[in-house]
Amino acid sequence: MVKQEWKDAGYVTEPIPAGLDLAAEIRRLCKEKNAVVLAHYYTIGAIQDVADFVGDSLALAQKASRTDADIIVMCGVNFMAETDKILCPDKKVLLPDLGSHCSLAESCPADQFEAFVKAHPGYKVLSYVNTTAAVKALTDIVVTSGNAREIVESFPPDQKLIFGPDYNLGAYINSVTGRNMLLWHGACDVHERFSVEKIVALKAQHPNAEILAHPECKGAVLKAADYVGSTAALLRHAKESDCREFLVATESGILHEMQKSCPDKTFIPVPPDDSTCACNECSYMRLNTMAKLYNCLKYEWPEISVSRETAAKAVKPIERMLEISRKLNLVK
Ligand code: 13P
Ligand code: SF4
Repeated sequence: MVKQEWKDAGYVTEPIPAGLDLAAEIRRLCKEKNAVVLAHYYTIGAIQDVADFVGDSLALAQKASRTDADIIVMCGVNFMAETDKILCPDKKVLLPDLGSHCSLAESCPADQFEAFVKAHPGYKVLSYVNTTAAVKALTDIVVTSGNAREIVESFPPDQKLIFGPDYNLGAYINSVTGRNMLLWHGACDVHERFSVEKIVALKAQHPNAEILAHPECKGAVLKAADYVGSTAALLRHAKESDCREFLVATESGILHEMQKSCPDKTFIPVPPDDSTCACNECSYMRLNTMAKLYNCLKYEWPEISVSRETAAKAVKPIERMLEISRKLNLVK
């Protein structure tokens, strides 16, 4: 039995008629409501195909900061929608499923991170974009995997730095920059599941393949990789490389765009270590479905909110990141 107060709050949607062309309806609703659909490369192919824009975390934040739409629908995870809301406080920001969390963001509770920061005076605080708004509010500058190296290098060599929450990305940036940033021990459950053993076994079957890896993977996996980069950087590399075959160690949603942009190349997802599944999927990203996206646009719900106080603090480190990315020509 559906409670009236749930209906009043918009929590109950009508059944979607069988045979409805969801993609066409989504595009119609976008036009009617001046809404824009932004999607991360880790969402399902159908969502990437219907979206106005598909990108990595950096490009999505850049796009949100520039849009003149009245409604932003963020097909991704919670922290991405929060980032959009912080950048665009006067716009309605929707997330098709409010349960789309991020294991990495959750590995860094704001109260614990605050105690860590307070215990290290004199350090500048760099936070990966995969954090809650509350953690961003404790941060000097936000980074993404698409600009972390350049932003770290923009600090004087003797500046003491804290980097959170992704340990693997932080350790990787330390190794390529020669810095010694103090690292928070957080991780992404999806990228942690890649192992060198599975990569070696696949490489034996595909000796000419290049190994591509996202920097959220463990250090041993990154050492085995031929190329390490953000999702957008991996895609760019795949397009530019002379190689015809690739083993891809990141969330398998990226293969959709890789295969679309390079139809004559072969992309093989690296499977997770602890399962017989062929590819590694982020269950939070997969909560974004075409039906939920359609309902979200139709009912303009679920809507993301960020408290004014938190947003006022969190917007500064995000804007610093966008500004420095602009100066370094990292705008995509
Ligand atoms: P990028 O989009 O920066 O490659 O990060 C991947 C990610 O973890 C998104 O959840
Ligand atoms: Fe978070 Fe990992 Fe999923 Fe990205 S892939 S949203 S970091 S849990």
